[in-house]
This record gives sequence, structure tokens and C-alpha cells, in this order.
Amino acid sequence: MTKEKKYGVRALMIAAMFAVGGAVVPMQSAQAAVNAAAAQAIYKANACASCHSATQKLIGPAYADIAAKYKNDPGAGARLEKVVKNGGSGVWGPIPMPSHPGMSDADIRTVVTWILAGAPAK
Ligand code: HEC
Repeated sequence: MTKEKKYGVRALMIAAMFAVGGAVVPMQSAQAAVNAAAAQAIYKANACASCHSATQKLIGPAYADIAAKYKNDPGAGARLEKVVKNGGSGVWGPIPMPSHPGMSDADIRTVVTWILAGAPAK
């Protein structure tokens, strides 16, 4: 193989890698845009952690269980955003989920998106 041919192949491979990366990255951000660090800061600041944990049922269901329950429900995000804002009850047991009228819609969306992604540590 000549030097030129080698470089040609390498350039093609690099171009292909960029093409794949370019196709994957916008798809992820459109679907989920999970910001684990921001979500965890928000959920600590709003005392969600006093009733929820990522993996264990406390007073409220574990975030992992919430993610599993709504895994195949494309409307879950919008519905759960309303539950966090206005409160909810009767889905997991007798204890109601309190409302959070003071939280911004953007913060609620960040937390709910993260919960539905299984509440990853990062
Ligand atoms: C006082 C305890 C408490 C606090 C604080 C709390 N939750 Fe809950 N949460 C619950 C309980 C209890 C449920 C189950 C309600 C039910 O059965 O419908 C629940 C349910 C949920 C659900 C699932 C709702 C559904 O309909 O499936 C989500 C999502 C959720 N909480 C997110 C949050 C977030 C985010 C915060 C903080 C902003 C928060 N919770 C704060 C107790 C709490």
C-alpha cells in the first residue's frame, strides 16, 4: 500500500466516525437531554430526597421503579411533570405526593426527564 492510499483510508475512517457521531448526538439531545448533575441539585434543593431515593422505596416510590413503570409510556413525561407541580395520589399507594407550585417548569422537566431515565448518578 502506498503512503497516499493509507492516508486516504484513514481520512475516510475519520470522516465516517464524525458522520456517526453527528447522527447520534442530536438524536440523544432531542430524546432525553438528561442532565444528571442539574437534576440531582434540583431534587436535593426541593426536598424530594426526604421521600424518594434513586433505588429504594422510602415514603414515595424509588425513581428506578417510576422509570420502570412508565418505560413504554410516551406520555409519561408530560403527566409526571403535572404530578410534581400539582401533586398526585392513588398511583403507588395511600400516601399522596405533595404539590410543588414554587418550582419552575424547566426545573420540573429536568428532574422528571432524569427520573424517567432511571435517575442515573451521572
Ligand atoms: C412528602 C413526601 C414526598 C415528597 C417531598 C416528594 N414526593 Fe414524589 N411521591 C411521594 C409519594 C407518596 C408518591 C406516590 C403517590 C401516588 O401513589 O400516586 C410520589 C410519587 C412521585 C412520582 C410518580 C407519580 C406517579 O403518578 O406515578 C414522581 C415522578 C415523583 N413523586 C417525583 C417527586 C419529585 C421530583 C419531588 C421533589 C420535587 C418529590 N416527588 C417530592 C412522596 C413525596
